[in-house]
Amino acid sequence: MTVELSDPSDLRDPSSSTELAAEPVVPGPAPVWEVIHGFTRYWAVVAALDLGLFEQLAAGPQPASALAAAVDVDEHRTALLADTLVALGLLTHEPAIGYQLGAVAATYLLAGAPRTMVALVRGAPGPHERWPELAQTLRRGAPAVRIEDDPGGFYPALARATAPVQRQVARAVVDTLSPIGADPLVIDLGAGAAPWTLAFLTAWPRAHALAVELPEVVAVTEGAIAVVGDAAVDAVRAGARVRVVAGDYHQVELPDAAADVVVLGHVLRAESVAGARRLVARAAAALRPGGTLVVADYPRPEVPAAPSAPALLMGLTMLASTGGDGVFRVADLHGWMRAAGLEPAATLQPLPGQTVMTARRP
Ligand SMILES: C[S@@+](CC[C@H](N)C(=O)[O-])C[C@H]1O[C@@H](n2cnc3c(N)ncnc32)[C@H](O)[C@@H]1O
Repeated sequence: MTVELSDPSDLRDPSSSTELAAEPVVPGPAPVWEVIHGFTRYWAVVAALDLGLFEQLAAGPQPASALAAAVDVDEHRTALLADTLVALGLLTHEPAIGYQLGAVAATYLLAGAPRTMVALVRGAPGPHERWPELAQTLRRGAPAVRIEDDPGGFYPALARATAPVQRQVARAVVDTLSPIGADPLVIDLGAGAAPWTLAFLTAWPRAHALAVELPEVVAVTEGAIAVVGDAAVDAVRAGARVRVVAGDYHQVELPDAAADVVVLGHVLRAESVAGARRLVARAAAALRPGGTLVVADYPRPEVPAAPSAPALLMGLTMLASTGGDGVFRVADLHGWMRAAGLEPAATLQPLPGQTVMTARRP
């Protein structure tokens, strides 16, 4: 609905006596509603996931009545939610056949899809209960409860959730690198569900890996490696080629000047600046001459323009729920790399919104 102002002079500064002064342009409130509806959109999609609505449509289109029965919600409420999802571009609706999965929902919002983001939708904002406290958290300098205070409470689900997308990112990056020696070593720090370890082992048949993960989370790393090892034994034989170490990547012993590649996959932004710098130095020391440091993360853009909002919001997400500094610039990372004796190399964008920065040990 458009509301016309009956008398635009209402908006003029009453202290102004100049008749010819330009009328101030009053911006519409749409951007504020966009912010409010970021919240409502999110919870509409979470509700659809909780109800299994996308899964119900995976077999084919359904009219509102059948969909309502399948998700066990009355028809009016089901249709209102489903229409909202149509408006969000996740479903389509044709009166003759009913509701149907859109391409985005079919690709990313079904639990079993190869590129599933179902777990990521729930996990990517961090623990939901941290967000209403953000103002106090910013003022205090840390959340009341940090993820790292109970890593087993959040990281296993997050690591599983991020793996499908990170496997694709890792595959694309591995294709740009070559092993140095005949028996290359890959070190994966904060390995999670091992997307990087597995991508290297698959692409480099003679490679071995050292995957470091916290004791509370390491079962996720071991489980991911076991599953792929079973599914592609000849290609990967993953279990026999990976040493999984349960420990803190700041402390576990790493081989000196031995690795062809060290990966820091989405770990630096949960660190303080000092911690991130220290971790880059540890990774650099583990690289052999000619080896490559691979850092996947969401760097802070130089200019805070609209397309860069996801990286900035990811930084705030880290401030909301971890003791880390949240986000760093590519220039910061390059400084830490140089201080550790590395030469910054290519910055890659293997998928939209995914940035991978590399450096070489001379
Ligand atoms: C966002 S996940 C990323 C996992 C994986 N590297 C990826 O790219 O998908 C961060 C991982 O770092 C691990 N982690 C956090 N702090 C750690 C530490 N001090 N030592 C070892 N691992 C750590 C977490 O348990 C979690 O699995």
